[in-house]
Amino acid sequence: MHPQVISEAIFSSTKLRDLAYYADDTTLIFKMEVREALKLLEEHQIFVNCIVTSPPFYGQRDYEVEGQIGLEAHPSIFIDTLSDVFGLCRSILADNGSLWVNIGDTYWSGKGQHRSGESKQGARRFGLRPQDKKGDGKWCVPKQLLLIPHRLAIAMQDDGWLVRNDNVWRKPNPIPDQVRDRCSMSHEYVFHFVKERWYYFDKNPVGRPTDTGSILPPLDTWELPTVRGKRKGHSARFSEELVRIPILTTTPPRGIVLDPFAGSGTSLAFARKHGFRCIGIDLKEEFCELTKNSLLEVVQQEEEENQSE
Ligand SMILES: C[S@@+](CC[C@H](N)C(=O)[O-])C[C@H]1O[C@@H](n2cnc3c(N)ncnc32)[C@H](O)[C@@H]1O
Repeated sequence: MHPQVISEAIFSSTKLRDLAYYADDTTLIFKMEVREALKLLEEHQIFVNCIVTSPPFYGQRDYEVEGQIGLEAHPSIFIDTLSDVFGLCRSILADNGSLWVNIGDTYWSGKGQHRSGESKQGARRFGLRPQDKKGDGKWCVPKQLLLIPHRLAIAMQDDGWLVRNDNVWRKPNPIPDQVRDRCSMSHEYVFHFVKERWYYFDKNPVGRPTDTGSILPPLDTWELPTVRGKRKGHSARFSEELVRIPILTTTPPRGIVLDPFAGSGTSLAFARKHGFRCIGIDLKEEFCELTKNSLLEVVQQEEEENQSE
């Protein structure tokens, strides 16, 4: 299918550049609430080819910034909020574009605030999480797996998205969870959503070569190690390998990749390394700075490679 790629001009729009935290000829970073930034992009008639993102997971982290998503009192509010965000994404996604969403699940604990003082747990529990409160007695009862990824995917279908895959990211090195009466969690999902039946997809860069020389599409189970610790200053960073299949299969040459919850800028750095243009959004200035620095590192590497040629 013929890819829709917009002109270079949007990256030189002074209006957008003035509102951006960082801008250059191929990159825009916005330090804004995600819905505000998406509306701004729509107003400027921007459209993107590939959206790849890992939104905050429900009740997992406190990013210590006002307006953050992820700590809603009830999981249904969280699902509604994410559906709204992706509804705005839909308006700026090319008709033949793709949206990839990495999302993991959460248990309702209902135990109350963690008080053991154990350092590992203390780091994971930032205080009173929504799922530590008394629940609604239905979805939210102690020990219940909330099925957040599945609920989000169903809400997205109801909003008109086509679900192409519920890719499973299998982690060979999951964070040990201290449970005795269920299996330990070692996977997250990376949903592939599209707007229309026919969309841009090039399996060749990441496909599986056969003995006959043909290329099969990649599998829907991806075994990739997690990024551990607060590397590069962000505790929920994903690995560049997680965005390899999404970005390389669904971004046409010179296309635009958007990460609406950019964090430390992993997807933007990967996109830029592969010659794509990119747009990132994050509410927190510290993370926008990390993204800017990751991109400047890529630019510097490119310059060094060009000089040595
Ligand atoms: C799971 S992290 C993304 C991590 C990223 N994939 C990486 O590799 O670094 C989610 C991000 O969403 C941001 N965020 C949370 N609520 C937001 C909001 N309402 N608007 C914009 N960004 C938000 C957080 O600051 C956080 O950096």
